[in-house]
Amino acid sequence: MGFIKYVKEEINIIRDRDPAIKSNMEVFLYPSFKAIMWYRVAHKLYVKKHYFLARLISQKTARKTGIEIHPGAKIGKGLFIDHGHGVVIGETAVLGENVTLYQGVTLGGTGKEKGKRHPTLGDNVMVSAGAKILGSFTVGSNSKIGSGSVVVSEVPPNSTVVGVPGRVVKRDGVKLPQNDLNQTDLPNPNLMDINHLQRENEELRNILTQFMKHVERAERKEKKNEDI
Ligand SMILES: CC(C)(COP(=O)(O)OP(=O)(O)OC[C@H]1O[C@@H](n2cnc3c(N)ncnc32)[C@H](O)[C@@H]1OP(=O)(O)O)[C@@H](O)C(=O)NCCC(=O)NCCS
Repeated sequence: MGFIKYVKEEINIIRDRDPAIKSNMEVFLYPSFKAIMWYRVAHKLYVKKHYFLARLISQKTARKTGIEIHPGAKIGKGLFIDHGHGVVIGETAVLGENVTLYQGVTLGGTGKEKGKRHPTLGDNVMVSAGAKILGSFTVGSNSKIGSGSVVVSEVPPNSTVVGVPGRVVKRDGVKLPQNDLNQTDLPNPNLMDINHLQRENEELRNILTQFMKHVERAERKEKKNEDI
């Protein structure tokens, strides 16, 4: 992609997601702009196995912007990193399209895994200020991670996760009941749907039984009238 096209894209991304921008020229002041541009260069070098050069670019950029993106990370279109200070994206992290990260976000490892050690983020994921996502699991598309959360396990799509350790508090825009302290077993949406259908089925069965009784009574009354 040419430099002009890259700049235009970045302007659109920043204008879309940061109400603070007032003019297109300001795009050059954003650490996100510099960090992602240099990441794209470093990633190409990394893919061609020029590891030292790739790391050199990434480290120099980190010193200037406060955003350290390992050149091995795989990042889709439309990434926006607001403010930028203290952002770390690990070597085996994978980011979908239109991801937004705020300052102080770490997409890191736990130190316990080998090979793929860092998280995969789906499309349109938003990770709020200071949140840490640690491990090789996936955060589903359209999910939001609350500020200050520490997420250490899989997140389903369309979820809001908050707290330490992170727990799902909202799914598909609906708040989930938080009536126990179990933060390991996330709610099973399929089971919730089945329970809901069972309850509805029971209600319909009751209505039908009442209706049939009513019809039977009416028929009996009609027959009695005919006999008379
Ligand atoms: C998570 C967040 C994105 C809100 O997402 P949402 O889907 O709209 O969720 P809601 O606001 O409905 O909150 C759902 C619940 O989580 C709680 N919650 C929200 N954010 C939380 C956080 N960071 N930590 C702990 N609890 C949090 C809410 O109080 C609410 O609890 P309740 O059901 O008991 O009332 C938002 O709260 C957040 O963290 N924003 C920070 C963005 C940021 O980093 N800005 C920096 C700009 S410089």
